[in-house]
Amino acid sequence: MNLYDIAGTALRRLPAESAHQLTILALRAGLGPVQHAPDDPVLRTRIGPLDLANPIGLAAGFDKNARTGAAMMRAGFGWVECGTVTPLPQAGNPRPRLFRLTRDGAVINRMGFNNDGLDIFARNLAAQRKRGWAIGANIGANKTSKDRIGDYVTGLKTLWGLPAWFTINISSPNTPGLRELQSKDALQELLGRIMEGRAALTGDQPSPPFFLKVSPDLDDTQIIQISETACHYALDGLIISNTTISRPDDLQSAARGEGGGLSGKPLFTRSTEVLRAFRHATRGRMTLIGVGGIASGADAYAKIRAGANAVQLYTALALHGPSLVGTIKSDLAERLRANGFSSVDEAVGRD
Ligand SMILES: Cc1cc2nc3c(=O)[nH]c(=O)nc-3n(C[C@H](O)[C@H](O)[C@H](O)COP(=O)(O)O)c2cc1C
Repeated sequence: MNLYDIAGTALRRLPAESAHQLTILALRAGLGPVQHAPDDPVLRTRIGPLDLANPIGLAAGFDKNARTGAAMMRAGFGWVECGTVTPLPQAGNPRPRLFRLTRDGAVINRMGFNNDGLDIFARNLAAQRKRGWAIGANIGANKTSKDRIGDYVTGLKTLWGLPAWFTINISSPNTPGLRELQSKDALQELLGRIMEGRAALTGDQPSPPFFLKVSPDLDDTQIIQISETACHYALDGLIISNTTISRPDDLQSAARGEGGGLSGKPLFTRSTEVLRAFRHATRGRMTLIGVGGIASGADAYAKIRAGANAVQLYTALALHGPSLVGTIKSDLAERLRANGFSSVDEAVGRD
């Protein structure tokens, strides 16, 4: 057991949100783990213009204010998504709003986009810029906004030039009505205005990639519609998926009845099915990022084989601590080689 595992055991005795806040403070103070050895070359991968040393990303929600992106890159993540950030600061829902379901390897959260707003996010992100670090921004809308689509455009205007990519998050279940932006007409309007904003900001310079983050609670018709719209507006990728509002019957933990989004192990199967359905619907024309219940190299490998060019995780990190990243990477590298692949790319969509 190393120092981080010991600290993690102590943190897991605290209420979930307090443990999270302490972790962010420790990371900002430079107390996080540092991976010294370079990544195994078999893990190198590309998503659009992003060249990643490994495909394991930190999913949005861990660092809503872009305070620890650099620390998490040093800890061994290949890419780190910060946010969701909204134009104005907001407090989120009343506490408690974050629940561990330890026996199920899961978490339920109804944070409600608590964050310090775009100006602070921009300042923090600017302070962490370093050539080669893949730190992205996940943008959203304020709960009380009169023009939610306008909030996304404000996000990209305010942060332009800072993140390595933008993720448009329309799939959080904790902002009432937000997921309706996934419906056909709303999505067309959203992507139309975002792409207009992007074109105006880009001029003849290269643009960072734009990803759309979707829910796992979509039916086949919605998956086809979102795929067509995403391809029509030339989005660079889809992140599949956010948390689910469904509750599998076999959840064991006392907190299973809490409202909010469920993440972790019980989300793995559904989010992987949805990933596969998007792969089918986009006919391999779109970069896909697999998220939901990844806790091992086998899970990451299964997402890649189902169609993911890269993956992200959050809940397993919160439950098992940062040494998990190194374990997942070495296991994934071994699995790729054992199956005769010399790169992540070769294994994408092999199922
Ligand atoms: C406490 C918590 C907060 C989250 N906040 C956000 C968020 O602000 N924006 C977002 O796009 N996803 C958010 N997510 C969803 C994660 O990014 C991820 O999509 C989901 O948890 C599934 O991955 P996992 O099973 O590895 O956690 C959050 C998840 C958790 C557990």
